[in-house]
Amino acid sequence: QAADDFEQMERASKFFAYQLRQHKKSAEVVEYLKGRGLSGEVVKHFQIGYAPDGWDDLLKSLAKDQRSREQLVDLKLVNRNDNGRYYDFFRDRVMFPIRDRRGRVVGFGGRILSGDGPKYLNSPETRIFHKGRELYGFYEVKQAHRNLEQVVIVEGYMDVVALAQAGIDFAVASLGTATTTEQLQMLFRATKRVTCCYDGDRAGRDAAWRALENALPLLTDGLELNFLFLPDGEDPDSLVRQEGAEAFTQRLQTAQSFTQYFFNHLTEALDLTSDAGRAALLSQARPLIEKVASDYYREELLRELARLLRREVSQIAGQVKQGGQRTQ
Ligand code: UTP
Ligand code: MN
Ligand code: MN
Ligand code: MN
Ligand code: MN
Repeated sequence: QAADDFEQMERASKFFAYQLRQHKKSAEVVEYLKGRGLSGEVVKHFQIGYAPDGWDDLLKSLAKDQRSREQLVDLKLVNRNDNGRYYDFFRDRVMFPIRDRRGRVVGFGGRILSGDGPKYLNSPETRIFHKGRELYGFYEVKQAHRNLEQVVIVEGYMDVVALAQAGIDFAVASLGTATTTEQLQMLFRATKRVTCCYDGDRAGRDAAWRALENALPLLTDGLELNFLFLPDGEDPDSLVRQEGAEAFTQRLQTAQSFTQYFFNHLTEALDLTSDAGRAALLSQARPLIEKVASDYYREELLRELARLLRREVSQIAGQVKQGGQRTQ
């Protein structure tokens, strides 16, 4: 069953890629992709495709019998309405196949070309697709690098693809949700250095803090987690197209370490010249520091906390538990 699901998803991906070449609207879609700065080579590398604007093009092409039609429904490529009619889930969208770490297509993201509707539509969860466990672009990144020095996590499909177009071929995207502990774990098994680089907006900044919280129990000695914040209104795609790869790489080198970001964020709204401000910092920082897996990082955080509180490390160390708080 499962092997067959992957085959069907691959067939769907090939169908979308084929439509991008031969559909009557293909010139328009290709213009769209060119307008976003993408070459044919990169489009092919990510197997980007087009879901036609009809109601049942994919269905007609892939549903050979009742069984394969129900399979397409299970894989959420096809919907069934209340009248028992079947129709394609993705229509008139640019399609990004999402591969698991072994390269098998497990889901899709589809971007609207114009008009109304959500900008991106993602495959809902299925028996082979679990959003919090997959990372868009991860398979492609691993294929491109025998030794993976670093990975950048971004928000969107287009960010991954635009960075690759610029030659920055080590970006992955968490799929429209906050980066999960599972996703971070996958990355830290493959590399020692991860940089979070979300959009320069409220949602992006919130996503960064959630990623930090999720990462704390994974941060063992030797792993590096950094945060790069972009100017307001920019995302990696818009910025790399504006500034070029070199400037973007420069920015990556100036990313904040997680310890810097940790205190920058916690102290943002606090007045550390007051007792109340320092007490608030201690009470917010303490439970987070207790989660950090690495002795090295926990001590670094304690030293910085002591400095900000104008205390000795020995005075606050007793109040912070030693690493026994790893969440599973
Ligand atoms: P963004 O909202 O930042 O996309 O969503 P964007 O940068 O404006 O899109 P472009 O550049 O115009 O194409 C980033 C990611 O969040 C998820 C998708 O995974 C998307 O890539 N998302 C966004 C959704 O799932 N649904 C949406 O409606 C919007
Ligand atoms: Mn490379
Ligand atoms: Mn955004
Ligand atoms: Mn964006
Ligand atoms: Mn964008």
